Amino acid sequence: MSYAIICSSKTGNTEKLAQRAREALGEKDECPVVDADLVLVGSWTDKGGMDPALADALPQLAGKKVFLFGTCGFGGSQAYYDRVLDRFAAALPDGARVVGRFMCQGQMPPAVRERYVKMSNQDPARFEPMIENFDRALGHPDAADLDAFEAALRASM
Ligand SMILES: Cc1cc2nc3c(=O)[nH]c(=O)nc-3n(C[C@H](O)[C@H](O)[C@H](O)COP(=O)(O)O)c2cc1C
Repeated sequence: MSYAIICSSKTGNTEKLAQRAREALGEKDECPVVDADLVLVGSWTDKGGMDPALADALPQLAGKKVFLFGTCGFGGSQAYYDRVLDRFAAALPDGARVVGRFMCQGQMPPAVRERYVKMSNQDPARFEPMIENFDRALGHPDAADLDAFEAALRASM
């Protein structure tokens, strides 16, 4: 099966998923979007949705089968992952058909934690849970996330 990958990853988390997809599907079958049976569209989560930098690449997905994937900083809730994925899906053009989707937590840069620690002095009720979330995100996507991603991808085919 021929496939293409469109992916935005600022710090490498989402790119780990893209790389796993290449390993699972075979590097030789990766091709340009126009020739692909399936297009994998991946993004880090920016303000609850897809990276706007991908917007120019999306119109060519009309009429294509799409597997949506991503990573986000806030973890632990499938309901949250689903909301973000719904936002990703809403960015696709009419005629793109979503055949599967996957989202998991992705670790954030240390500067984010330093900011939370400073702010927790003023507002601990708000920022201590965010520090806990930051610490839970460290190391993600991990091996189990990548296995779950591959399983979701295979189930979509
Ligand atoms: C400017 C900025 C905005 C972000 N907005 C969100 C957000 O709204 N929701 C969320 O869960 N994570 C948010 N994050 C966290 C990233 O989506 C998360 O760390 C992701 O795994 C980064 O993926 P990457 O390494 O592929 O770039 C944001 C990060 C940055 C830098």
